[in-house]
Amino acid sequence: MQTLTVFIAAAGALLAATPSAGSVPAGTALFFEQGCPDGWIREPLSAGRMIVSVTNGTRGGFTIHQALSDQEVRTHSHQSLAVTSLATKSVSGVDGSDHSAAAHGAQHGANATAASAAGLGFVQLPLCVAVTALPNATLPAGAAAFFGPDTFSCPAGFDPLADAAGRILTPAHDLQITKSDSLPLGDQEDRLHSHPTDNGRCAINTQATDFEGIGGCCNDSPSADGTYPVSVSAGPASTGLPYIQLLTCGAAGDEQSHGASQGSLPDGALFFSTSELGCPAGWEVFDELGGRFPVSTPVGGTDGSVFGGEPIARASAAGTTHAHDLHGSIVTSPAGIELVHGCCAKGYAESGVYEYACATDDTQGSGLPYLMTPLCRRSPAAAATGLRGFA
Ligand SMILES: *[C@@H]1O[C@H](CO)[C@@H](O)[C@H](O)[C@H]1NC(C)=O
Ligand SMILES: *[C@@H]1O[C@H](CO)[C@@H](O)[C@H](O)[C@H]1NC(C)=O
Ligand SMILES: *[C@@H]1O[C@H](CO)[C@@H](O)[C@H](O)[C@H]1NC(C)=O
Repeated sequence: MQTLTVFIAAAGALLAATPSAGSVPAGTALFFEQGCPDGWIREPLSAGRMIVSVTNGTRGGFTIHQALSDQEVRTHSHQSLAVTSLATKSVSGVDGSDHSAAAHGAQHGANATAASAAGLGFVQLPLCVAVTALPNATLPAGAAAFFGPDTFSCPAGFDPLADAAGRILTPAHDLQITKSDSLPLGDQEDRLHSHPTDNGRCAINTQATDFEGIGGCCNDSPSADGTYPVSVSAGPASTGLPYIQLLTCGAAGDEQSHGASQGSLPDGALFFSTSELGCPAGWEVFDELGGRFPVSTPVGGTDGSVFGGEPIARASAAGTTHAHDLHGSIVTSPAGIELVHGCCAKGYAESGVYEYACATDDTQGSGLPYLMTPLCRRSPAAAATGLRGFA
């Protein structure tokens, strides 16, 4: 019967907490700087995952991909296709039994790209859930709170945070709020991205072969020896980065009363502010984390660790990018020539396996959509002067 008792207690807490806009009900989940304070527990389902906000509470708790381990930088690769075109070089011979020349025209190759990280910068933060309501603590208007999978709609005093739907809330560098160009994720969508172009340094060098004959008319099938550019494109793939969908609600209320009584939030509490007023009095933008994707600290992980790629630049809607090394080979198709090897038709490409080594271009991102908005933490100055209790 213990489960039932807990359930009733939690329901009671929720009922008791219906009061003023933005007051913190049981089940509210916020990031904290270090560990969860008394009365809060680590949200278990999110460990090792980023959080994608949803506004449909029935979709909360759904996940994709395996959770990250401590400071894991997940990598991925793509299937790639290479194509090159060998130039025609005629020889005076007829099609025949000698297949040592490479046929002119399009030649193909395929291979997986090297594995690479998605290029996101991360920070591990504990996501903590309030076990009971905090009747005296309110979140300012526009502050975002997450709710666990057993909360199906935003509690009293909160509205679904539509701007964040299908996006990952990431800390801004300053008061600027930036929505990424990538479209919001659909329900449990595994967003794919491609690298359609290479870095322009993909090429093969053919091996020269000669024939005993006269270069010129009229067999057009062989190709000229030389260096040929190769175009390599890497097809759609997922970053493999795991997330959990959580109902995300914004505190309702009058922006004029911004900053009323967040002082009663426990030490170390953090909240995203989507208010154009930024962080309330006594709070400041946690700009050190600007542009980093929060990962709910994995089991056994260290809170506050920063790792991975570069943070998203200030106010960038494009986000960060990444590239993959490309190694592969073109297997040429042979041209048939009825000639004997040797002098004096020179400069034909020998049929064979030719390797290229280059990289994709570095303009493509992960395609993961974000809403970069100030993450507020208690300002040390306010804490030192006792201001934080002023509410
Ligand atoms: C919420 O998701 C459920 C599926 O779980 C769907 O049936 C419902 O229509 C969705 N509600 C809205 C408002 O989109
Ligand atoms: C909330 O505020 C009331 C009145 O100011 C106070 O009596 C009570 O102890 C406070 N409760 C908590 C949990 O801080
Ligand atoms: C295919 O790509 C992998 C990963 O980059 C590389 O190790 C391997 O050598 C490539 N294969 C060929 C035939 O180049």
